[in-house]
Amino acid sequence: MTLAGRMSRVGSSPTQQVLLEANRLARQGVDVVDLGAGEPDFPTPEHVKAAGAAAIAEDFTKYTPNAGIAELKEAICNWYAAKYGVEYVRGEAIVTAGGKQALFNVAMALFGPGDEIITHVPGWPSIVDQIKLSGADPVLVRTFPDEKFSVRAERVLEAVTPRTRAIVINSPSNPTGALITEADLECIARETEAAGIWLVIDLCYEQLIYDEVSHNLPRVLFENARDRAVIAGSVSKSYAMTGWRCGWALGPTKIIAGANAVQSHSTSSVSSITQRAAVVALSGSQTAVAEMLCEYRVRRDQLIAWLAEEPRIKVVRPAGAFYLFPDISELLSPEGVRTSASFATELLARSHVAVTAGEAFDAPGFLRISYATSLSRLKDGVDRLKAFIAALDCRDKEDLSM
Ligand SMILES: Cc1ncc(COP(=O)(O)O)c(C=O)c1O
Repeated sequence: MTLAGRMSRVGSSPTQQVLLEANRLARQGVDVVDLGAGEPDFPTPEHVKAAGAAAIAEDFTKYTPNAGIAELKEAICNWYAAKYGVEYVRGEAIVTAGGKQALFNVAMALFGPGDEIITHVPGWPSIVDQIKLSGADPVLVRTFPDEKFSVRAERVLEAVTPRTRAIVINSPSNPTGALITEADLECIARETEAAGIWLVIDLCYEQLIYDEVSHNLPRVLFENARDRAVIAGSVSKSYAMTGWRCGWALGPTKIIAGANAVQSHSTSSVSSITQRAAVVALSGSQTAVAEMLCEYRVRRDQLIAWLAEEPRIKVVRPAGAFYLFPDISELLSPEGVRTSASFATELLARSHVAVTAGEAFDAPGFLRISYATSLSRLKDGVDRLKAFIAALDCRDKEDLSM
């Protein structure tokens, strides 16, 4: 049986494959330290859960308008107005099944065969695969550890050709936690104006920034590219609501109408119950978000300190999200473990620690370590990682003496 031609361009999400294997081991009773997770370990805040439960109790359980209930679209617009000082109205918002579907809808509505779409690596693989599914060609701009993995305007602009249709930027980034600076985004916005290139910004980790740095990307877009910019966001990471499946896109009515059409022929509206809960997440108490942010910061700093004891693991301190993305290439060798993918596979198989290999993000030689897990589990994971490395060192020495 052959699948449609477009399927030869994509595979299933590699980040999910690690989770699957870790889950398989866990189901067999193995004590796996899961540092592969791309989701918060915290529960959804109580008042948000209560809103979902109330929606069920009140029989708010039917289809909603395809683009989302008015209260939620309004809550999203209000939230962006309050946080960033940007004005969007309901017709410029669509509620989607997570930030992923927001980006997918936009890709389907905007990109097509013959288009080039610039994005950055190391990066979240779904962005590239969505571009491929749309029939367009991804153009990948690399970011570097010695520049804190920040997307630089000059490299993005060098990649622009007459075929460039859009630029997709994720900040804070998965897997690096890096931020693009407002100045770089402004430069990109200005320099692409004449060509009318679209700017799609994935802000799914926007509430998870640890350092005191201004990251008002919506305002930059609002002032420099209002009619060709799309913002994708989500309650998943900020409010520990990954399973509820709720995100959004904000942008000019034409693109939102396109995204709406795509959604109307695929998933239709997001769960009515989820939408009621998301209204409360965005407009209710934000204390839980602040508490989670504090805890992630402590974990980030502690994890960096623990890993610093192994000088061959090179860590760039991430400004946001909940991942470290260390370079482990000094631990690899042609005679021993050759690639970061084999390193991750062996680490899971022998020491029962799940991490995601850099290959999943187009960055061989790196690992993504999620700190969306408790400090005690993180410590356990780091101890096992160090023991695994010590065993590798012994194995290498034995091989050399033979
Ligand atoms: C960079 C990035 N963007 C978007 C998403 C989408 O998240 P969700 O669809 O759960 O809102 C993710 C999830 O892992 C992500 O890492």
